Parts: sequence; C-alpha cells; structure tokens
Amino acid sequence: MDPSAPILLFDSGVGGLTVLAELRKVLPEAPVIYAADTAGLPYGSKTEAEIAARVAGLLGRLSERYRPRLVTIACNTASTIALGMVRDVLHIPIVGTVPAIKPAAAMTKTGVIGLLGTEATIRQGYVDRLEAEFASDKRLLRYAAPGLVAAAEAKLRGEPVDNGAIAAAVDGLRSQPDGASIDTVVLACTHFPLIEDELRAALGREITFVHGAEGIARRISHLTQGLPFARSEPDLAITTGELTEFERLAPTFSAFGIERIERL
Ligand code: DGL
Repeated sequence: MDPSAPILLFDSGVGGLTVLAELRKVLPEAPVIYAADTAGLPYGSKTEAEIAARVAGLLGRLSERYRPRLVTIACNTASTIALGMVRDVLHIPIVGTVPAIKPAAAMTKTGVIGLLGTEATIRQGYVDRLEAEFASDKRLLRYAAPGLVAAAEAKLRGEPVDNGAIAAAVDGLRSQPDGASIDTVVLACTHFPLIEDELRAALGREITFVHGAEGIARRISHLTQGLPFARSEPDLAITTGELTEFERLAPTFSAFGIERIERL
C-alpha cells in the first residue's frame, strides 16, 4: 500500500466535513481528498436514477484520477441510494453513511424519535428497513428539511443562517401526532450537524441529537488498521462546480486542514 494513497470523502457539498472532523481525531496523519459535487447540489430534490448515475460516475472518475485506498460516501442521500451500486463497480473499500436510527432507538426515553433528512433520503426503503429492524417498538417521525442544507452551506460560507428554515424543520417534527414527545432527533443528512446549535436552540436543550460521523470515522480507522499513512502533498478539496464560488469556503477548508482547492 502506497503510504500517500488518500482517503476520499465524497458529498454533494460541505456536509461531509462533519465526517472529516471526526476522521481527523482518529487518523490525523491520513491524507484526505474531499470531493464535493457542488454542480449537483442539492441531491435531496433529485430522483434516485439521477443521484445513482452522478454518484457512481463521479466516484469512478475520482478513483481513477486520485487512486484512493478507501472511499467514504459522506452523504446519507447518496449512500441510501447508491452504496450498493458503487460497491459493485469500485474494487476498494467503500464506507457509507446510514441514518443513525439504531443508536437513537437505544437512547430515546419517550419512545418518540424525530428524523430530519433530505426529501430523497426519507422516502428510501433503506430507512424503512432500519426502522423495522431497530425501531419497530418506537415512533419514528420523519421530516424532509431541504432548507437546512442551504442553511448549513450558508453558515460555512460565513453568511447568516436562515432562521425560517430552522423553524420550518422544528415545526415539521413537532406538529406531527406525538411530535411534542420527541426527545431524540436523528440528523440523517451530513449537513445538519453543522447547524446543530441552531436546531438545539429551536427544539430545546433536552433534545439528544444523533448522527453517524463518529461511527464512520471509527469504521474507516478499523478498515485501514495497520496500513502506513504519509502525506506526500497537502490535502485537497475538489469541486465539480464553479471554482470561484467554492473558493469562498477556503477559510472553512483551512480550518479542517485543507489548503488546496481545485475543480474536477
Ligand atoms: N449531505 C447530504 C446528505 O447527507 C445531502 C445534501 C443534499 O441535498 O445535497 O444527505
């Protein structure tokens, strides 16, 4: 194994940075390429076919170009739709992002769990199966909150967060039957932990938020155990979209240890 072979993190935008933050804690020496399909953002409003084609196509191109040792799809929408397909075509370990319904079911005291995701994620059979397997004795109240993706992107560009989007998401959960009893909320989109403070302020201090970033970082660490890591060049962020727009995120990437930004 080439010690400089990177770990590739993939998302539609900045959401995967929540996974990168946890990865840095467990594998600070690992070379990372962060790829954001900003030309395709948001994924949540796209069809399954569009998402699967984009994700499989882009990960194929990125893998050929950058030869990662492992790919992490740091996006619930892409993972719940395209994980199987990507695993079929790429012959390296692929780590996906799964809505954290299992840990949420173990944590809830009231038995009522909220789940915030994109429109595409919340309708997936993948989520139905997780609910049936791990939360069949609980109430799982799902709500699609696409406005939160834009809010998180704006926050990381240093712009104000849209309080209307936060209020709409909170109302979308609380106004459902039994919504007042929600004590645990699954953040089933990697963008949402970036605005956890705003969500907590609106939903209430007592709410427990659950997401998969820490578990994903542990999984990456497990799969690369014993392999050497050594950076031969600085970590890189790649966009499929406008470079000038993406460069507005430079201070954010710098805070995550990424100083180079390029267009695919
Ligand atoms: N970060 C992505 C996720 O985890 C979705 C954002 C989007 O709609 O593109 O689902």
